[in-house]
Amino acid sequence: MSTPAPSYGPEQLAMIERLERDVQRQLESKPNRLAHSLSVASTAEELAVIYGVDPYLARVAGILHDWSKALPKGEVVRRSVELGIDLGVDPWLVQPLLHGVIASKELPSLYPELPPEVFRAISLHTTGAADMEPLDMVLFVSDGIEPLRPASAGIEKVRSLVGSVSLEELYWESFVGGIVYVIDGGRYLYPGTIEVYNALALRRRGGAEVAGKN
Ligand SMILES: [Fe+2]
Ligand SMILES: [Fe+2]
Repeated sequence: MSTPAPSYGPEQLAMIERLERDVQRQLESKPNRLAHSLSVASTAEELAVIYGVDPYLARVAGILHDWSKALPKGEVVRRSVELGIDLGVDPWLVQPLLHGVIASKELPSLYPELPPEVFRAISLHTTGAADMEPLDMVLFVSDGIEPLRPASAGIEKVRSLVGSVSLEELYWESFVGGIVYVIDGGRYLYPGTIEVYNALALRRRGGAEVAGKN
């Protein structure tokens, strides 16, 4: 991908610098996670330009999206219970999904100057949803295809589609690729993911299965 760099105002540039400094501190002990976060931020910015989404919001969402990955797993579970986050199953089963929701609840008080869309995108970057806004989809896809992620067939496919399919289609490919990864690895598949998959699949086919019944 090569897109012209967006031009930001002085306040936006100052905020980006501040967030980059903060995330460096937050993820100090996890250099790979830090590099991934900054890489997601650049990828999200580029995708946003391509798909007509606000690149500033995409970049800041990218910088912050894995903020709560700084926590050890046990702390993630403990904090999610404390915050009343309930995905309907034992939190240990969905531990890898919880950091997005935790960050979305903790970051607004640290950065009240950022709009709620940023925190919503961060909240949904692990689980996805059937009703994703464009910024949500930009962050979700960027998280999956940022260049530091080792290539797999699924990731390569999504990378190759950037700019040639709609953002909705790109999100679909990325979401399905994520499910395939979970199943291939014999990992636990969160039931909420199946619901989202079915909602997206039906919408994508224009409700063909439902219409076919009549
Ligand atoms: Fe994440
Ligand atoms: Fe991430």
